[in-house]
Amino acid sequence: MKEKIIHQREKYVYPTKVPYYKDPIHLTRSSGSYVWDSDGKKYLDVIGGIVSISAGHNHPRIKAKMLDMINNDSIQHTTYLYLSEYMADLAEKIAKLAPGTLTKCYFTNSGSEANEMAVMTARVATGNQMVISLRHGYHGGTNVPLGLCGHSTWKFPHQPQASIAHAKAPYCYRCPYGATEGKCNLECADDVREVIQTATSGKIAAFIKEPILGVGGFIDASDEYHKKVYDIVKEHGGLYISDEVQTGAGRTGKDFFMSSTIGIEPDIITMAKGIGNGAPLGAVVAKPEFAESLKGKAHFNTFGGDPYQAMQASETISIIQDENLIGNADRMGEYLIAGFKEMQRDFPLIGDIRGRGLLIGLELVTNPKTKDPAIKETADLMEYAKEEGILIGKGSLLGNVIRLAPSLAITQTECDELLTGLRKAFTKLTK
Ligand SMILES: Cc1ncc(COP(=O)(O)O)c(C=O)c1O
Repeated sequence: MKEKIIHQREKYVYPTKVPYYKDPIHLTRSSGSYVWDSDGKKYLDVIGGIVSISAGHNHPRIKAKMLDMINNDSIQHTTYLYLSEYMADLAEKIAKLAPGTLTKCYFTNSGSEANEMAVMTARVATGNQMVISLRHGYHGGTNVPLGLCGHSTWKFPHQPQASIAHAKAPYCYRCPYGATEGKCNLECADDVREVIQTATSGKIAAFIKEPILGVGGFIDASDEYHKKVYDIVKEHGGLYISDEVQTGAGRTGKDFFMSSTIGIEPDIITMAKGIGNGAPLGAVVAKPEFAESLKGKAHFNTFGGDPYQAMQASETISIIQDENLIGNADRMGEYLIAGFKEMQRDFPLIGDIRGRGLLIGLELVTNPKTKDPAIKETADLMEYAKEEGILIGKGSLLGNVIRLAPSLAITQTECDELLTGLRKAFTKLTK
């Protein structure tokens, strides 16, 4: 079966879809924090698709609701041209969780489309064209989001990148200004102003940023950085778009959206991944005055907010609230970071440990002083972790950051399993 799938993928699927691992895994079953492959091997899933599993795989409450809908022949598909309580309820829930006055939602099938809509809203609302994003940022695989991305890995040679300029990333471990973490004047925030003043007319439509740069390797900047950039964006007429595709749904362990934790009120927040716990749903929540600027035109999307997807997202939000999964993400995140700090003493390969809640990155370096990226070692560590029954992710421009984003419901016993498994993997790697 596995060989057949590999053959089919090679023959019939685009070569841009490359599986993880030398011997790719065929996943067939999942429950809670675990997944199983077609040989029956059990893995602790610490990457959850790619940061998509928030409430846990096959959560019983979501399963029960789906079965209920199936057994009652509930409407399976309807566009927004008809009324559906699922999309309406979801919009109300998101509006109540969003900071400040952000209350108007739009639903899509993915994070990329959510970002397309956010950028279009900002351009229409401001009458300006230019959008500022960050180097090392990632915003999706459709045209505008790929233009926004700051990674050569994801860009194609003939890909247009109209009306977008990139500022430096607040990458403290590798500060673009050579400063020491915590001892700087936020020069990277000033770079946003400089880019606006040198690469645009001086007026922008928007600035877009992930609160923590996910694909870029969980690059986490200070709240002060965000506040300073927010003010710069406002000085130049732009909307602040917070791409919470990875950080949303409580993942960072304090608030449902990390923007609330930082203490800024973006004009638009986009989300996907964890909001649907694996269901293909993306969303935008915007301040009403900006959503209203699109009035008078229709914008169609066949599947956005469809009943099954919207129900799963709505139930995911309720589970996160009822089971206090944000508090759990905070506690388990702290527990894991303490465990990794201990591990770092034995394995200097771990150059930096960063992140918030259950969005944790380990940047691997061959020498902690020179910080040379441990690219091959990171790929090998993933293979060794797999042998130990642990599925982890990797990211960053060079692929030398281990990304950990388990279910928000992960238990302390499962965290211990992760720490023990990774310790064994590091031991094999450094032998
Ligand atoms: C921060 C961020 N924004 C947007 C996207 C795009 O989402 P999707 O893959 O659902 O289109 C991703 C996907 O990884 C992401 O990490």
